[in-house]
Amino acid sequence: MLPLKWRVGLHNALFARAAPPPAPSGFAPFDEIAARAARRSDINEHLLTLFAEAVAQRPRLMVELGVRGGESTFVLERAAALCDARLVSVDLADCARTSSYRGWTFVQSDDVAFAREFAGWCRARALEPAIDFLFLDTSHEREHTRRELAAWLPLLAPAGKAVLHDTNLRRPYWRRDGSWNLGWDNARGVIAALEEFFGARFDENREFIAVRRGWLLQHRPWCAGLTTLQRLPGTGAPR
Ligand SMILES: C[S@@+](CC[C@H](N)C(=O)[O-])C[C@H]1O[C@@H](n2cnc3c(N)ncnc32)[C@H](O)[C@@H]1O
Repeated sequence: MLPLKWRVGLHNALFARAAPPPAPSGFAPFDEIAARAARRSDINEHLLTLFAEAVAQRPRLMVELGVRGGESTFVLERAAALCDARLVSVDLADCARTSSYRGWTFVQSDDVAFAREFAGWCRARALEPAIDFLFLDTSHEREHTRRELAAWLPLLAPAGKAVLHDTNLRRPYWRRDGSWNLGWDNARGVIAALEEFFGARFDENREFIAVRRGWLLQHRPWCAGLTTLQRLPGTGAPR
């Protein structure tokens, strides 16, 4: 049996096809993200979706949990610039040079610990501590994701939106362009934490839209999974 890495390479050589890039729009932020999305990465097939989901919020305050190489930051800084929003990014590692957007602030911290300080941190900077757009992409471990959801979802504005990456992480995982990529087996960590939060079972390898406990969920299974959470209007505070 060939090693998995070789099988992934062979699979990609035989079955993957390059997705046709969208025609240039003439709108620089979109075209820059589209160019980035044309290069395979662990998140490339979600970059335009992330931009669309963020801009649709007309955000004033955006928070990104997990920066690393800055793929999501590249998208979120463009959405923030378009909306003249503040973007706060958090990571355990020093990622302070990832963005040059003037409305960007990097906080080097454990994200759950920072959530406890967030309201005071915002007030000290004359910011309303109500998050319009929250992106979670950190450890991918169940217990940590459970604590992230508990700590950060209550900080969303009433019409705020949260987006989680790696809700269908596998080894390997699949992209819509037919390619595979080597992820790691996180024992369904992120989606299992969502199942616990919503008291439901989800089939993360299929696309779905669901309503649970006053939230609208939209799940895209490809490229390790991307799941959007938005509280339905008139359903009160987050749980
Ligand atoms: C998958 S990478 C983020 C990828 C990034 N969003 C992108 O699109 O390029 C995960 C990041 O989460 C960070 N991280 C892991 N656990 C964390 C925690 N408890 N608090 C803050 N950041 C954490 C890691 O340092 C790492 O940089």
